[in-house]
Amino acid sequence: MKFGKLTGYQTTGRQVSLDFEGQRAVITAVTPEIIRVFCGWEEAGSRSHAIEGDKEKPVALEVKQRGKGLFLSTGKVQVTVEDGFAVDFFDETGRPVCQEYRGERRPLQRVSGQQQRLLEEEGHEGARQETMAFEVVKRLTGREHFYGLGDKTGFLDKRHYAYTMWNTDDPSPQVDCFQALYKSIPFFITLTDTHVYGIFLDNSYKSFFNMGQESEEYYYFGAAGGNLDYYYLAGDSLPQVLARYMYLTGTCPLPQKWTLGYHQSRWGYTVQEDMEEVARTMREKDIPCDALHFDIDYMQDFKVFTWNEERYHGDSAAYLESLARRGFKAVAISDPGVKKEKGYPVYEEGVEKGFFAKTPQGEVYINAVWPGDAAFPDFGSPKVRDWWGEKQKFLLDKGVRGVWNDMNEPASFHGPLPDDVVFTDEDRPAPHQRMHNLYGHLMAQAAYSGLKRLDGRRPFVITRACYAGSQKYATCWTGDNHSIWAHLQMAIPQLVNLGLSGMPFAGTDVGGFGSDTTEELLLRWVQVGCFSPLFRNHSAMGTRRQEPWQFGDRAVEIYRKYVKLRYHWIPYLYDLFWEEERTGAPILRPLVYHYEKDETAKTCNDEFLFGDRILVAPVVEQGKDKRLVYLPEGEWYDYWSREKQTGPCAVIKDAPIEVCPIYVKAGSVLPTMEEMAYVGEKEPETLTLEVFPGEGEWEHYLDNGEDFAYREGRYHQYRFTVDKTGAVQVEILHGGYEKPYRHIYADCMGEKTEIL
Ligand code: GLC
Repeated sequence: MKFGKLTGYQTTGRQVSLDFEGQRAVITAVTPEIIRVFCGWEEAGSRSHAIEGDKEKPVALEVKQRGKGLFLSTGKVQVTVEDGFAVDFFDETGRPVCQEYRGERRPLQRVSGQQQRLLEEEGHEGARQETMAFEVVKRLTGREHFYGLGDKTGFLDKRHYAYTMWNTDDPSPQVDCFQALYKSIPFFITLTDTHVYGIFLDNSYKSFFNMGQESEEYYYFGAAGGNLDYYYLAGDSLPQVLARYMYLTGTCPLPQKWTLGYHQSRWGYTVQEDMEEVARTMREKDIPCDALHFDIDYMQDFKVFTWNEERYHGDSAAYLESLARRGFKAVAISDPGVKKEKGYPVYEEGVEKGFFAKTPQGEVYINAVWPGDAAFPDFGSPKVRDWWGEKQKFLLDKGVRGVWNDMNEPASFHGPLPDDVVFTDEDRPAPHQRMHNLYGHLMAQAAYSGLKRLDGRRPFVITRACYAGSQKYATCWTGDNHSIWAHLQMAIPQLVNLGLSGMPFAGTDVGGFGSDTTEELLLRWVQVGCFSPLFRNHSAMGTRRQEPWQFGDRAVEIYRKYVKLRYHWIPYLYDLFWEEERTGAPILRPLVYHYEKDETAKTCNDEFLFGDRILVAPVVEQGKDKRLVYLPEGEWYDYWSREKQTGPCAVIKDAPIEVCPIYVKAGSVLPTMEEMAYVGEKEPETLTLEVFPGEGEWEHYLDNGEDFAYREGRYHQYRFTVDKTGAVQVEILHGGYEKPYRHIYADCMGEKTEIL
C-alpha cells in the first residue's frame, strides 16, 4: 500500500483529513493526549469492539502547514505528518517521542518459495511468510523498553522479540520463541530514558509486532487485513499511559469478593464423589477455599448447557446447594462448540435460527472440539449474544456462580477454521479472518450480559481468549501451562504484562496444568499464586494430582500458610480492585510501573509489586533456598522479620521452602481480614490494620461484595493516615454502607490499639 505525496488536507474540529497521492487518511485528536491515526480501506462504518461509547474530550487542535508537511498540536502532543503518511509524535515542548523510521528496511533473510513449502509441509510454522495489508515502522533510538502485548511468553521487556496476534490454542509447552498464545491485545507501552507512550492498534485481523527483533534501528507493527487504525497515547508516566488505554477500552469492574478467594480445580473431578472429597478435605485440612470448578465432565457428552445428572446422583442442583451451604461456589466450564446432534435443542435451535458460523456456501460450518463434530455460535451477532446470554439461565438454575469460558480462540481439532468461514460483525457478514481474535471477547460479552440481566450479581466470567477491552466482561487465566519451573518463572512477566495490557484480573494454573508437578514446584507456585488476582490450582487429566495433600503434611502446612496469607490480605486486594475500576491501575505490577527511572526495575522478571505497598520476590528456581532480592528506592520492611532495609539495594534473603520473601513499604496500612474458611463465613465487624511505620495513607473500601448497590453509593470509604511513629488516624470519606465496621484496630509491630 502506497501513500505517496501529501497533496492536501482539511480540518474539521478535532479531525484532519489528509489526501495523499494514493490514499486518504485521517488523524483525530480524541483527547489532548490521545491521537488516532487512521486509514481505512475496509468498509466504512465497521466499529471497534475494544472501545465502546464516545471517548472524545474537548480539544483545541491547532493545524498548520510546516515545510513539506503538516504540524498539529493539542497543547499536550505535537504531531507532524509528511509524505508517505510518515507520522511523528513530539511532547508538548517539541521534543521527539515516537518517530517514523525513514531509513532502509532490512528484513531478515527468508527462505525461498520452494524451501518454504517444504518447511511448511514439515510443520515449521515460523517459516511462513505473512503478507501484511499495512505496516507502521517506527524508529528505535536504542533505549526503548516495551511492555504489554497481552499474554505473550518470554520476559517482561518485549524488546528484541516478535509476536503475532492470532488467538492460538497450542498445548505444547510454551517457550520464549512462541509468537502467539490465546489472547490478542495489540497494545504496548514504550519506555525510553526521557519519555513514555502507548500504541494501541485497534485491528482484529492477524497482526504482527516486531519489537526490534529484525533490526536495532526500527520496530514495526502491521496486520494482514483491516484498517490502519492506531492510537498514540501520551503521558508523563507508565501509570498515566496505561490509564489512558483503560479510559479508551474500559476498566475491569469490581468483582464479587468471594472470587478473590482460593479456587480448586482439576480436569478429572468427574463425579460428585471426586468433588466431595476435595470439598471435605479442604475444610478438614483447614485450607480456606471459595470456589470449586466443574470441568467438561459435568456435561452430558460435552454438550454445552447440559448436566450429566447420573454423575450427581440425579440431582446436581441439590449437590451445588449443599456445597453452597458450606461456602463453596460452583464455577462451570462453558465451551462454544455446540455438538452437532439431532435432537439436541441447543444445536437445533442454533441451526434453525441461523446462529452458527457458515461456510461461504451458506451451510453450517462444522469442525470438531470436545463433543466431536460441532458448530460455532456466531457471537458477532447481537442476537446470538442475547441467545447465549439467556442460555446462562441453565447454569444459574443449577446454582452455578461463575462461568468459565474455554476453547474460545476458537480452538478446533480438525485444523484451523478456514479464513472465509462467514461470521457476523454486528450487522454485516464478516470473514473468520476478522472475527477470529474477537471470538472469545464476544463470547465473554454474551455471558457477562446474560448473567448480569438474569442474576443481578456482579457476573463472574473467566475467559481464555481475549481481545483488547475484554477486561470489561471477564477475568482470564493464561491457559494450558505446564508443571515446569520455566512456566512458574514465566508466570510473573505474563501476569504483569497482562496487567499492563488492561487485563488486571488474571491468574495462571497454580501448580501447572500439563505435565506432573512436584511438591517443591507446587509450594513455590502457591507463593506466587496467592498474589495473583485469580488464584486457582488447576491440572490436566492424566497428570499427577496436585491438591496439596497429595504431597503429605508438610506440603499442606506450607500451602495453607500461603492460602491463609491470601485471605488475610483480601481487604487490601479488594481495595486494589476498587482503585482499578476507577483508574485502570493493575493489581500485580512490575517494579518498573512505580520505579520507571530505575534501571534494574526495567527488566526485573522475578519480582513484582502487589499494589504499590507489597513487593514479592518469590523463589522460582528448583533447589534454591536463598535469593537475591532487589529493593527499589524507599524504606522496606521484611514482612517476616520486620527488619528494615533502605533501597535501592540488593539483599540476600534466606528462603527455605516455607518462605516467600515479601517486603512492605514503610508508611503502609494494610487492611486485613480475620481468619475465615471462605469469604463471607462471618460478617466483617472488625477490621485490623497491619501498620508499617512511615508516612503514608491508604484508602479502604467496603461494600456488600456482591451486587451493584455500590454504584448507588452504598459503600463505605475510609482513609487511614500513618506517621513515622506508627500512629494511625481514621477518616470516613463516604458512609453509604449499611454494615460498616464496629471496631477498627491498628496493629503496629505486634502492638494493637483500637482506633475506631
Ligand atoms: C482446555 C483448558 C483446560 C481444561 C481442558 C478441559 O485445555 O485450557 O483448562 O481443563 O480444556 O476442559
